[in-house]
Amino acid sequence: MATKVPPISKVFFLSLLLIIFTFLQPSLSEFCNALDKIALLDIKTQFKNPSILASWDPTTDCCYWTNVLCEQKDYRVYSLSFSYGDLAGPIPPQVGDLPFLQLLNFHKYPKITGSIPATIGKLGRLRFLEITWTGISGPIPDVFATLKSLEFIDFSYNSISGTIPASIGYLPSLGGLRLDRNNLVGPIPASFGEFKAADFYMYLSHNQLSGTIPASLSKLRLSYIDLSRNKLVGDPAPLFGWEKTTQLLDLSRNKFAFDLTNVRFPKRLVSLDLNHNKMTGSIPAEVTQLRLNLFNVSYNRLCGKIPYSGSLLKFGFYLVGRIEEIKDRESYRDGDPRNRED
Ligand SMILES: *[C@@H]1O[C@H](CO)[C@@H](O)[C@H](O)[C@H]1NC(C)=O
Repeated sequence: MATKVPPISKVFFLSLLLIIFTFLQPSLSEFCNALDKIALLDIKTQFKNPSILASWDPTTDCCYWTNVLCEQKDYRVYSLSFSYGDLAGPIPPQVGDLPFLQLLNFHKYPKITGSIPATIGKLGRLRFLEITWTGISGPIPDVFATLKSLEFIDFSYNSISGTIPASIGYLPSLGGLRLDRNNLVGPIPASFGEFKAADFYMYLSHNQLSGTIPASLSKLRLSYIDLSRNKLVGDPAPLFGWEKTTQLLDLSRNKFAFDLTNVRFPKRLVSLDLNHNKMTGSIPAEVTQLRLNLFNVSYNRLCGKIPYSGSLLKFGFYLVGRIEEIKDRESYRDGDPRNRED
């Protein structure tokens, strides 16, 4: 049985509640999580309070700040995205203190320098990680064992050095990887054969990667693969095969040495660039059955007749150019200085 509360006490309690509510009002009406706010203000301080972060005012709700997005249901910060502006210096390690982050993006900041902070390894919910066109250098931190939600990594157009961490290959949900235009060295990890996505795409061009194409890569279901402008050697056979789904294959400007004569290219291929390698043999007749928009086998060591029919007909002028080139190859062979330039 409830005890009877005299009316005067009811009024008193109501007033008390009202007073408490009035005092707590600023924080109650704020959606921003207090811990997220602390992390964001730390990031602002680390960047030395740049003008593009003027809206990051501690007295306002961080869910309304620029470059920040909060979840609808729990108001945790899930996206931190910067492109263009005046950010400079290293990426603050405090980006790792936003545990609900799904997207982290820095795009076009030549004055952002230093290396990628290892604290991103704390972002277990991260799905999209994009650091592109910045002055970032140093190695890729090997923190991917804890980043199981990653769907897309883009570190293109930076000055990243060192080798590619094998742990990237074991990301269960990764659908695309861009590490092109950096200073990466060493091999393509064999673990890259583990990517499960149906239309995986991989851009590793414009680095100094060396070694052969790992045999495990034959398991990949690729849509686009660009390995151009590296120092890769051997036979790229793991990337060939009529049943493969690859549409773009760019292996140009490497040191691949193999006989092209009996290669079977993926049947859906629309772009095939093999220029500047050390291929021998002749162009397989089967390429005329592909719906190619780009076909470039120049600067190799090919010989024999060009199968001048099917899709190759549309390359008329260029192919004539290439016939000349192939003849050049025949006559120069070892004396041609261009053989040494790649
Ligand atoms: C083929 O590649 C060579 C070498 O990079 C280039 O000079 C030529 O313009 C390319 N041709 C076509 C048709 O793409």
